[in-house]
Amino acid sequence: AGLPRVFSGMQPTSDSLHLGNYLGALRQWVAVQEDHDAFYCVVDLHAITVEVAPDVLRQRTRRTAAQYLAAGVDPDRSTVFVQSHAPEHAQLAWVLGCITGFGEASRMTQFKDKSVRGGSDRSSVGLFTYPILQAADILLYGTHLVPVGEDQRQHLELTRDLAQRFNARFGETFVVPEPYILGSTAKIMDLQDPTAKMSKSAQSATGLVDLLDDPKVVAKRIRSAVTDTGREVRFDREEKPGVSNLLGILAALTGATPEAVAAGYEGKGYGDLKADVAEVVLAELAPFQQRFTELLADPAELDRVLAAGALRAREVASVTLARASDRVGF
Ligand code: ADP
Ligand code: NA
Repeated sequence: AGLPRVFSGMQPTSDSLHLGNYLGALRQWVAVQEDHDAFYCVVDLHAITVEVAPDVLRQRTRRTAAQYLAAGVDPDRSTVFVQSHAPEHAQLAWVLGCITGFGEASRMTQFKDKSVRGGSDRSSVGLFTYPILQAADILLYGTHLVPVGEDQRQHLELTRDLAQRFNARFGETFVVPEPYILGSTAKIMDLQDPTAKMSKSAQSATGLVDLLDDPKVVAKRIRSAVTDTGREVRFDREEKPGVSNLLGILAALTGATPEAVAAGYEGKGYGDLKADVAEVVLAELAPFQQRFTELLADPAELDRVLAAGALRAREVASVTLARASDRVGF
């Protein structure tokens, strides 16, 4: 109580999160929980905006939650829960959808990107209204701060607009959240195409470091990372995107600046850099994978954590929803 509230979530759209998710989000969540009242959600409602088999979704939801915990999110400190366990999300999303302009929703660029990629005729209305559900996720918890990457800025702006609009029309109800840009957040690029961000939806899996990959696979992917012409290890995202990405990963994991890391490679080559990156990444992943395995081996304990998280989430969400419903005239 009294601590600023934070909300964040990830979609359970793969069996393993990747190094970009870890360095750009998950590891930050662990740090943030120390001095914030954090709600970390597995957003499974969002995950059905694209077609997925029920068993696959169920498994990915559990695996995603287990990866939050394996990374160090502490369920005694933070509220860890699954979105569909709190029906308030879908209920508030309906209300917010009714104060969102059609044109306003149409301007969301991520929908445009994703629907074009999937073939626009096949994209669902759910994919279109996704940012409204995201607004509901955030507003239900009286969230002050939302850790966001650059790609999510526009959605948070919509959340703020909807909160302000609702408050103006129906009376003060929602906290208007602020973006929480974490200074040290690294943007991790694809190992094979270092001009694109590392992403689940990447063209080729060899550009990814999945957190749950076999150590041998991880080492091989890092060894095979695309580097740049020349031999000099230098931090320069424009001229040397591949080398700079590796330096960025090493910097993020060692707490140094990429420039300082680069300085240590005077007289050394790309091979030395890759060997060091592989070593540091594997050292970080070993305890993570160990904890993940333990968590999956005890399904009852994971269920208990998620049930407790849902209870706590609903305590907060139900109060906000009741207040909003009353304001609307329900
Ligand atoms: P993906 O693009 O792989 O589908 P998500 O969109 O589900 O990943 O992202 C989940 C979280 O991880 C978000 O907070 C996002 O900002 C962060 N994230 C995703 N990819 C990267 C990356 N390559 N570098 C840094 N952070 C990332
Ligand atoms: Na994304």
